[in-house]
Amino acid sequence: MSAIPPIPAVQTFGLTRTYGAMTALNALDLTINKGDLFGFIGSNGAGKTTTLRILATFLSPSAGRAEVLGYDVVKQADAVRHVIGYMPDFFGVYKDMEVTEYLDFFGACYKIPTLKREKTVSDVLELVGLSEKKGALIGALSRGMQQRLGLARVLIHDPQLLLLDEPASGLDPRARIEMMAILQELQRLGKTIIISSHILSELQTLCNRVAIIEKGKLIYSGPVQGVRDQMASGLIYWVTIPGDTSKAIELLKAHPEISEAVAVDGQVKVTFKSHDVDPGFLPETLVLGGVKFTGLWEDELGLEEVFLRVTRGETQ
Ligand SMILES: Nc1ncnc2c1ncn2[C@@H]1O[C@H](COP(=O)(O)OP(=O)(O)OP(=O)(O)O)[C@@H](O)[C@H]1O
Ligand SMILES: [Mg+2]
Repeated sequence: MSAIPPIPAVQTFGLTRTYGAMTALNALDLTINKGDLFGFIGSNGAGKTTTLRILATFLSPSAGRAEVLGYDVVKQADAVRHVIGYMPDFFGVYKDMEVTEYLDFFGACYKIPTLKREKTVSDVLELVGLSEKKGALIGALSRGMQQRLGLARVLIHDPQLLLLDEPASGLDPRARIEMMAILQELQRLGKTIIISSHILSELQTLCNRVAIIEKGKLIYSGPVQGVRDQMASGLIYWVTIPGDTSKAIELLKAHPEISEAVAVDGQVKVTFKSHDVDPGFLPETLVLGGVKFTGLWEDELGLEEVFLRVTRGETQ
């Protein structure tokens, strides 16, 4: 039996946004499928907020177009607003309002009937773990709780797609983990979620797919595991050789699978031509060449380092 093909929840086609002479978003082609918990990554000024605001119908594209659950974000903006929940990067909270009052107010904006509203408010508060805080003043909630309340607010009309602009920014590690757990639960409940962040490693275990943008251009889209393979140079190994390293370097450099071998702080750093290589020949080459070594290990290039290399010096 063949797998069911994914159904797109969001598609952008050459999506472009300019502000005067500056291009904030440059011909972005992006597909996010239904059920994805999708990470949208880029450094400051990369164009994340611009993209999310266009998808949320708050900003019009200068060129290109975007569809959200089959609706055009410009021509069918009203329909789009009903199926999305947009949480901006900065949202004003009404500090003197009580938690339930606040959510009830937004429920009324979406014309949820009064009787049903009470249950809806209670349900969303439970989802974000704020049931205990029903009567609390918003101003008295911690930052993490306020972020979760913001999430409760965008859930009130039961949207299919959530657009969350850096929902974990400014949160301490525990609050971050709580936020991520809620997002996973929402994914299980069938929501499609786009979450932006400037930290790739923060999203690596959370998201099934990510896109990386830089200067308004898409530079990667696909599974998190693919980032490293596509972006990094080849596999790197370190070899410890007691004494002179020149023989080892000469041997390794001559190997067709190795692109570089250099001495760094008394070790030899070996860069392979790709990631897709069985490094078993490395010790064999040394031993057969009569070179003694006392250590050999793979360089675990962190995901964040890969991301930084890719985007280094590229921000506006
Ligand atoms: N209203 C505006 N007027 C002029 N330029 C703007 C405006 N809004 C955004 N920009 C520019 O567009 C580019 C993309 O901005 P955007 O806010 O989309 O980036 P971002 O990825 O969300 O960044 P951050 O991580 O800082 O939130 C930036 O260079 C920004 O200065
Ligand atoms: Mg932003």
